[in-house]
Amino acid sequence: MKWVYIEDISQYVNQEIEIRGWVYNKRSSGKVRFLLVRDGTGIIQGTIFSPEKDFPLFKIFDELTQESSIIVRGRVREEKRAPGGYELEISEIEVIQIAQDYPITPKEHSVPFLMEHRHLWLRSQKQHAILQIRAETVRAIRDFFDGRGFRLMDTPILTPSACEGTTTLFETTYFDQKAYLSQSGQLYNEATAAAFGKVYCFGPTFRAEKSKTRRHLIEFWMVEPEVAFATLEDIIELGQDLVMFILERVLDRRKKDFEVLERDTAPLEKITKPFPRVTYDQAVKLLQEKGSKIIYGDDFGAPEETLLSEIFDRPVCVTHFPAKIKAFYMQPDSERSDLALGVDFLASEGYGEIIGGGQRIHDLELLERRIKEFNLPQEAYEWYVDLRRYGTFPHSGFGLGLERTVAWLCKLPHIRETIPFPRLLYKIYP
Ligand code: 4AD
Ligand code: MG
Repeated sequence: MKWVYIEDISQYVNQEIEIRGWVYNKRSSGKVRFLLVRDGTGIIQGTIFSPEKDFPLFKIFDELTQESSIIVRGRVREEKRAPGGYELEISEIEVIQIAQDYPITPKEHSVPFLMEHRHLWLRSQKQHAILQIRAETVRAIRDFFDGRGFRLMDTPILTPSACEGTTTLFETTYFDQKAYLSQSGQLYNEATAAAFGKVYCFGPTFRAEKSKTRRHLIEFWMVEPEVAFATLEDIIELGQDLVMFILERVLDRRKKDFEVLERDTAPLEKITKPFPRVTYDQAVKLLQEKGSKIIYGDDFGAPEETLLSEIFDRPVCVTHFPAKIKAFYMQPDSERSDLALGVDFLASEGYGEIIGGGQRIHDLELLERRIKEFNLPQEAYEWYVDLRRYGTFPHSGFGLGLERTVAWLCKLPHIRETIPFPRLLYKIYP
């Protein structure tokens, strides 16, 4: 008999097929037994009918417990009333294992309990829907950049230097040297951009951030485009196009998952280009008007970002930050050198920063000065400075955080459910 996945079931109406999966739920009603089976691609209702009380299949059915692994065989029927629209008339059940005392029952569990059982929690419908949306977002990102002639460049994870400040580095040893887990592929992509024009990297990045907020992960995925000869304006345009592409794609392809999550997608459907723009100066004024105690020159924390992004019904781009609160590589504004040509995209509905980026310093002397001012070890950055010695070029790029984006799309209260196995402050199990 042919092994079929539930997501393809519509192609097998009136045929005898086999499904391999796990017991999701079961119930009986008179002469019928209903068995909900999931196989990772969906859930199907199986039925067993018999007027005889001691029908052999009923006996097997009675032994089945939640998450028991089974192979079921039978005929596919169209059935409007069944969840998913199809039903399997079961003729055979092969038990692989009867699962004993599956810890996650349909009752409510606390989040710490579920996190301890993350390896099992992934099987439940909401977690499944979130990770489907994550996978679709990844596909959209790749299609977007590949479709626009960007070259994928895989940047290293073990690095000798910091990109985003030295306070959040994960230190390790590299034979007889010190090394760090990458905070960002950006510096390397500034080199590959000179070799390929427009590039992107997409991989895990690490921040030993001692922050326990609903938007921080220790290990998270970031996609980072870098474009030779692009300005801040060009990169803002690119970021908007990327966000719109992702939105359109997931809204089009993952409707069912949003329904499972009970996510009202209307606010996402309304989003159009161009996104509103504010400078840091304007943002501080807006925040103060809203009652924030922010002082000019301070960086935005989560509360400020939330407040700002609640003002707009679309993602908002904040630009021209005080250079002091931004990374060493940021190009200063030509008229006000105390301002950096950086941009943060704050997602709507209070979600805060999903993109950070901007224009990079391309002047050799200025970059050398910044490296000194930030007390960075010059030897580790020699190769990076070389890019300003041999055919320097204005260039810009950004990083979009995958998990932040998925948390926003799904409207989740916390980022921890957007990645299969989140790494959180002090927590590495499972
Ligand atoms: O703003 P960040 O720190 O920028 C960079 O790393 C640049 N080097 C990127 C570049 O220009 N190529 O991080 C970029 C994005 C943030 O906007 C956020 O979405 C995400 O990465 N991010 C995090 N996501 C989850 N947990 C954390 N701890 C994150 N830190 C940053
Ligand atoms: Mg940032």
